Amino acid sequence: MKGLILAAGRGTRLRPLTHTRPKPVIRVAGRPILHYGLENLLQAGIEEIGVVVSPETEKDIREALAGYRVRYILQEEPQGLAHAVAVARDFLGQSPFVLYLGDNLFQKGIAHFLQAFTPGVSAVIALVRVENPSQFGVAVLEGERIVRLLEKPKEPPSDLAVAGVYVFTPEVLEVIEGLKPSARGEYEITDAIQGLIDRGKRVVGVEVEGWWKDTGRPADLLDANRLLLEELLPRVEGEVVESQLTGRVVVEKGARVRKSTVIGPAFIGEGAVVEGAYIGPFTSLGPGAKVVRSEVEYSILEDHAVLEDVALRLQESILGVGAQVKSRNGLPRAHRLILGDLSQVELA
Ligand code: DAU
Repeated sequence: MKGLILAAGRGTRLRPLTHTRPKPVIRVAGRPILHYGLENLLQAGIEEIGVVVSPETEKDIREALAGYRVRYILQEEPQGLAHAVAVARDFLGQSPFVLYLGDNLFQKGIAHFLQAFTPGVSAVIALVRVENPSQFGVAVLEGERIVRLLEKPKEPPSDLAVAGVYVFTPEVLEVIEGLKPSARGEYEITDAIQGLIDRGKRVVGVEVEGWWKDTGRPADLLDANRLLLEELLPRVEGEVVESQLTGRVVVEKGARVRKSTVIGPAFIGEGAVVEGAYIGPFTSLGPGAKVVRSEVEYSILEDHAVLEDVALRLQESILGVGAQVKSRNGLPRAHRLILGDLSQVELA
């Protein structure tokens, strides 16, 4: 069994965060989104893992995955999920494989999808009940068997959305070869699976256990951050001076917390600085981030983001890499910010 993680998309719904960096390298609960998928595959015993990248995302993704042994596969243009699988053909060979969408998070991992991949089954599709099925692939089930699959239908025939994990036999590659682009101009994996069904193959739907997140929008990132922080195990390796840590808090090595209050669950990354500050629940600070004489909760500050002398508490905010929010005097009026990497905001 091999693993194929897709990380070549444009991430348009997360702009401006994704103007400069691909979505799967954004950190939630201190780690790049992509790490969670990789760990899921490794935990399921899958060691041969390919990651599909684009010319724009390759550098950042290689950096985020430094230390992991994976094969990088280049997709020149994001022409759809089935196209991304097709470009990985040489890597996949004749092996069955797990296809994992790099922006998806599964609380309970993927092992139970693999358990359903028994002899005679051509594909296992992860399914999840949602309130807004028309934003996803949607399945129609008969028993455990999927009889129809539609990509983002206007009138969804069920509330069973396709979550971002699929297990395939190599037969799917043959179907992909004959695919035509969809109305939105992409080679859809949904059409490839429908092709398997049309050939009389057994395609099985398995419902997701625990929570699942497609990190498509800023609110999803904050929610994923919250869900992952809920499971945080407290650990203090950095320096904590004249401060109060309450609840589950991680302070990574090289981080400094001084004269501050931190209410968990909260993650303070390597080398981060927290001084005269309040860090409230569900907040993650990336490596080297700084919160000085400011208050923040339910937010993500990415690597080296800075919050300094901001009188109003920041909530539900995401500061990209190196983004800075500083206040010179008086009370700022803004308090909900989605800032791309290297943005600078001065609240005067
Ligand atoms: O998240 C679940 C949904 O994922 C499913 O319900 C849909 O059936 C499925 O088509 C997919 O829809 P999205 O619109 O969310 O897919 P997105 O374009 O966001 O791409 C998912 C991942 O695949 C993302 O990490 C980028 C990567 N990708 C995407 C495309 C289009 C590639 O690597 N290459 C591509 O060509």
